[in-house]
Amino acid sequence: MLPRVILLTGATGTVGSALLRRLVASGETVRCLVRDPKRLGGERVRVQLALGDLGDPGSFRNALRGVDTVVHLAASIRDQPRGSIEELSAVATLRLVRAAERGGARRFVFFSALGASRASRTRFFRAKALAREAVERSGLETVVFEPSIIYAPGDPWLTLLGRLGLLPAVPVAGSGRALFQPIWAEDAADCVAAALTSKGAGRYELAGPQTLSYNDFVHAALGPRPLVHVPLPAVRAALRAVERVSGPAAFATWEEAELMEEPMTTARGTADAERLGVRPQPIGAVLGSG
Ligand SMILES: NC(=O)c1ccc[n+]([C@@H]2O[C@H](COP(=O)([O-])OP(=O)(O)OC[C@H]3O[C@@H](n4cnc5c(N)ncnc54)[C@H](OP(=O)(O)O)[C@@H]3O)[C@@H](O)[C@H]2O)c1
Repeated sequence: MLPRVILLTGATGTVGSALLRRLVASGETVRCLVRDPKRLGGERVRVQLALGDLGDPGSFRNALRGVDTVVHLAASIRDQPRGSIEELSAVATLRLVRAAERGGARRFVFFSALGASRASRTRFFRAKALAREAVERSGLETVVFEPSIIYAPGDPWLTLLGRLGLLPAVPVAGSGRALFQPIWAEDAADCVAAALTSKGAGRYELAGPQTLSYNDFVHAALGPRPLVHVPLPAVRAALRAVERVSGPAAFATWEEAELMEEPMTTARGTADAERLGVRPQPIGAVLGSG
């Protein structure tokens, strides 16, 4: 029997890179759909490469040839030249699901976001809700993860926070009171790896062991710092102006800042991760701040 081929999208991302290391180490045959293989670092010589883009559905067919399982992590929280948040995070998922069905794949693993619904305040959450519906309505065996905030030392978000931490007071968009249960990317990757070795469809909420407001999270990441809360209309006007000047290279966008106002908690806490044999770490243990 031929080994199963796993198509992984988003392999260069925070969760994807952690997952890819695990899959390669366990001897899986992995094909990565990537825009730029260089961003895979040393792993690029250990995987099959499929050049592609969420904004180019034509690239999905080749990528899916002979694939048994799709792990679809790629998504975008900002508009890109090749597609809007909705096109890249919702429509592309629907197209990938359809292409996977046509191509004979058996299983589709997808990352939505905890609390995402069609009525969510942010474009990204609404897109993730639509994408999740498309996945779960498909004829494939589906595994859906709904994570709270995912973090890893050195990820783009903590890196930006680190830079903001150099200011006399750390700017926080809005009240900073929305609640999260941050989960380390390595723990999230362990959950996906565990789901890939078990059978059947499923839905798992991924949350860390602590419930923190965004304000608490900033303190957990940076230590005690004065915060300055910037009213959302002022954040929106400022970041829209930054985007007009900097284009796709903007250090932050309004859509990204607004995500900090989307609460992402579950009453189930770490139960689903533990069901997969993973005990998520507290943030202090990961960042060395606790
Ligand atoms: N991080 C969180 O707090 C969080 C919370 C809830 C849900 N999620 C979801 O969980 C999943 C994994 O998150 P993550 O933090 O690992 O994501 P991430 O670090 O932002 O990585 C995004 C991945 O998507 C790829 N990508 C972006 N635009 C693309 C395009 N047009 N074509 C092809 N690939 C594209 C990126 O590739 P490049 O290297 O080419 O940019 C990267 O590999 C995502 O679906 C995310 O939406 C994350």
